[in-house]
Amino acid sequence: SCGLAARVARRLCEELLLLERRVFLDGELCVRVPSRVSGTAVIVGSLYPPQERRLLELLLGIEALRGAGASEVVAVVPYLAYARQDKRFREGEPVSVKIVLKSIEAAGACALVTVDVHNPKSLDEWLAIPHVNIVPYKAFAEYVKGLGLSSLAVLAPDKGALHRAEGVARLVGAEFDYVEKRRDRVTGEVTALPKELEVEGRDVVIVDDIISTGGTIALAAKCALEAGAKSVYAACTHALLVEGALDRIYAAGVSDAAATDTVPSPISKISVAEELAEALLKLGL
Ligand code: R5P
Repeated sequence: SCGLAARVARRLCEELLLLERRVFLDGELCVRVPSRVSGTAVIVGSLYPPQERRLLELLLGIEALRGAGASEVVAVVPYLAYARQDKRFREGEPVSVKIVLKSIEAAGACALVTVDVHNPKSLDEWLAIPHVNIVPYKAFAEYVKGLGLSSLAVLAPDKGALHRAEGVARLVGAEFDYVEKRRDRVTGEVTALPKELEVEGRDVVIVDDIISTGGTIALAAKCALEAGAKSVYAACTHALLVEGALDRIYAAGVSDAAATDTVPSPISKISVAEELAEALLKLGL
């Protein structure tokens, strides 16, 4: 992990316990809370790959904490896996996010805090317990300010991600826009251009929720550079980074890429600890 649980605990001046875990010879997982606990416990479990194992560890951890004396357990799930399958895209498929959320609630969590979930409506739809979705605008803005760029523009790689670019841009006092993709009906070639914003001669920061293959950021970066951008930086919340993703991004001309610490990766250098601690305090912990 990125040490996010420890960072949150330090901000809240709370004790950090590390769950013991072992795997039996038949492959089954067991966790153990190393000491008795009292009052409200917070469990931090991010569901990056291997997602199924980490989900089970979280569920068992919640149950174990209740058994070890916690009066209630708040689940902090920095990266909520399976969130993209928020509907039956094809007949016969499951609504995966529903099962993940309901199992966290069924395990005994009294509240859920997550970061930049793919579709925040899923939380309202499938959880009866209180829930908070943090979008790390502030943490991104600090990163962007630290780059010391002069003529800044913040871009979302598609319309759905515009709120993220807008939130960051407002905090750093920059203009923002999203990249519009167009497919040539004859050749099938995909081209992309900022919808309205002029990026010529500007330093562009692209902000998205997930980098998986890096294809989305690479296309947006290429388009910004072709439109005359002076430099392109990329920031995302969850750096899942499948094989080759960083090469794809840097090959497209990105100068630097950064992500939050919801998922460990070589670029996870923006911490959401402060925002998670604030959210937990707001929940009354
Ligand atoms: C799409 O809905 C997401 O917001 C991301 O843009 C996407 O998951 C990124 O994936 P990739 O890095 O594979 O293009």
